[in-house]
Amino acid sequence: MRVFITGGSGYLGSALLRLRPSLPWVLGASYHSTVPALSGVEWVRLDIRDAQSVEETLVRFEPEVVIHTAYSKADPEALLAITVRGSVHVAQACRKVGARLIHLSTDQVFDGTHPPYAESAVPHPITPYGRAKLEAERFIQAILPEATMVRTSLIWGLNPLDPTSRMVLEIADGVRSGGLFVDEYRSFVFVEDLARALWGLASLNQPGVLHLGGAEVLSRLEFGHLIAPLHGRDPARLVAQRRAEFPEPRPANCALDSTRAQSLLKTRLRGVQEVVQGLRR
Ligand SMILES: NC(=O)c1ccc[n+]([C@@H]2O[C@H](COP(=O)([O-])OP(=O)(O)OC[C@H]3O[C@@H](n4cnc5c(N)ncnc54)[C@H](OP(=O)(O)O)[C@@H]3O)[C@@H](O)[C@H]2O)c1
Repeated sequence: MRVFITGGSGYLGSALLRLRPSLPWVLGASYHSTVPALSGVEWVRLDIRDAQSVEETLVRFEPEVVIHTAYSKADPEALLAITVRGSVHVAQACRKVGARLIHLSTDQVFDGTHPPYAESAVPHPITPYGRAKLEAERFIQAILPEATMVRTSLIWGLNPLDPTSRMVLEIADGVRSGGLFVDEYRSFVFVEDLARALWGLASLNQPGVLHLGGAEVLSRLEFGHLIAPLHGRDPARLVAQRRAEFPEPRPANCALDSTRAQSLLKTRLRGVQEVVQGLRR
């Protein structure tokens, strides 16, 4: 099978490539500004804001499956041009070459008031990022109704560290001000589980929305308390913060109900405690 990954230089994209199945599949991947070092991948520099480049890249690579992770939430312009319009370009190119699309979306399409969220729940984003990802989902569904929309939660991992774990360690080390929310809950998902689950999905034709969150719902502070000791830090040094202290609205609890995904996929999406206990053994 020929699989192309957009955002192969990103946190999830690079985990996907590191954990690629030991099958004779041909892998292509794009980067934008970070030149990746991983070999065995047909790398291409691509700006998904450029519809023609996206189409030319996929016409040349001839993928059967595209896993679309590339996005940006750097500012409102990036949300529109990259996260929304860039996704439209990827979907249009997939339609042109007849590739199956697995699109990465987010639990932030929900407002966090009625967890846990199954695939049938009605989205209602309250952040610019959540709104942009929902818009991208809707455009993609209109272009490619058979696409798979994977909504996932906060992605964490060890080597390299994810941005949330880095924040935890910086707060514990006293080199970063601010705190960790005690009243914001997510289905934290281990990047290796998510990558393996996505590879499982690459072999399945599963149109529509699928929720892939970790099994345990934690606040950011609870997550910090589990992660800090793993990296030799004192959890007592972590500072608690409330969402109300943050200037923008944030969903309180975007826990995902991933029952459907777990009935379809062999990979279990473990909770943070289970992963941490497994690492200590
Ligand atoms: N991380 C999470 O906790 C989380 C939670 C829920 C959902 N998601 C979703 O999961 C996906 C992957 O997230 P991530 O954390 O792996 O993201 P990330 O580490 O920020 O990586 C983003 C990727 O997008 C690429 N990119 C940025 N601008 C681009 C452009 N104009 N054209 C082409 N590529 C561009 C980047 O390339 P360069 O680095 O080379 O510039 C990078 O490879 C996203 O769709 C996100 O919405 C993530």
